[in-house]
Amino acid sequence: MNQNHAENLEPELKDKLYQSIFSRKSIRKYKAESLTAEKLKEIKAFLAARKGLKQNIKWESKIVSADKISSLLPIKAPHYLVFFSEESEGYLQNAGYILQYLDLYLSAHGLGSCWFGLAKAKKEIAAESEFSYVITLAFGEAAEKQCRNDKSEFKRKELSEIRDHDSYEQLIEAARLAPSATNNQPWYFKVRPNKIDIYREKPNFIKKIFYQKMNKIDIGIAAAHLKLAAEKHNLNSKFSFSDSPSKELSDYIYQFTLNILD
Ligand SMILES: Cc1cc2nc3c(=O)[nH]c(=O)nc-3n(C[C@H](O)[C@H](O)[C@H](O)COP(=O)(O)O)c2cc1C
Repeated sequence: MNQNHAENLEPELKDKLYQSIFSRKSIRKYKAESLTAEKLKEIKAFLAARKGLKQNIKWESKIVSADKISSLLPIKAPHYLVFFSEESEGYLQNAGYILQYLDLYLSAHGLGSCWFGLAKAKKEIAAESEFSYVITLAFGEAAEKQCRNDKSEFKRKELSEIRDHDSYEQLIEAARLAPSATNNQPWYFKVRPNKIDIYREKPNFIKKIFYQKMNKIDIGIAAAHLKLAAEKHNLNSKFSFSDSPSKELSDYIYQFTLNILD
């Protein structure tokens, strides 16, 4: 199955989202005040317009306050975006992809956000959706430095650890900077002519319970960065989910391919 995935963003907004890749950070301290109704409306409209990695997967989201969320390690924020999805093939990657556009959107608009994998939507909220709870994004006005000054402030693996070839470096560089659960960075990119194969690290036995789910979300997040970078560099591209990978890798599981069309 091939899908076009053009997110139909205004060039100026697309540019802002792309720039945010190089400055965004997780915000864990927030001002207590709610955002204005107008701002929340804009955020909802932006999210509602997302097509996602796999457009056939149904999903929905809700913005709730702290009393609707439970977590052992809380992040106190004025708002939480809880995401629900149909559990079809690739739904976790799809959730990561969609919500990473929102993470970048919030950062680009001077707001703070943090992926919140340890959170759970309380029963009364989960019961309102016909879909399964996936993950939460905390957001609001930052009460700490809202973004990074430059790339040197990112703690990430080196490019050489996550790719096998130096083609499409600007795309893989954008993916390299993506956020991931506990900064695990479970991605690997194999490049072949006009294709980037995306792989996910096999979690070890201990990591399996938590990471199995988070790793897949992380891959969708990295794919969002890859796609935005392709668009920024005027490369027409499409994800495909039924390709055979160029090679099986012992420590990684093949996920999908970004095809560069011109
Ligand atoms: C799927 C996912 C789940 C996460 N869950 C949490 C969480 O529960 N609590 C938290 O403080 N940070 C969480 N994070 C944030 C990561 O720790 C953070 O993205 C990573 O350390 C990289 O730092 P950065 O986002 O500032 O670049 C999560 C990130 C992702 C992508």
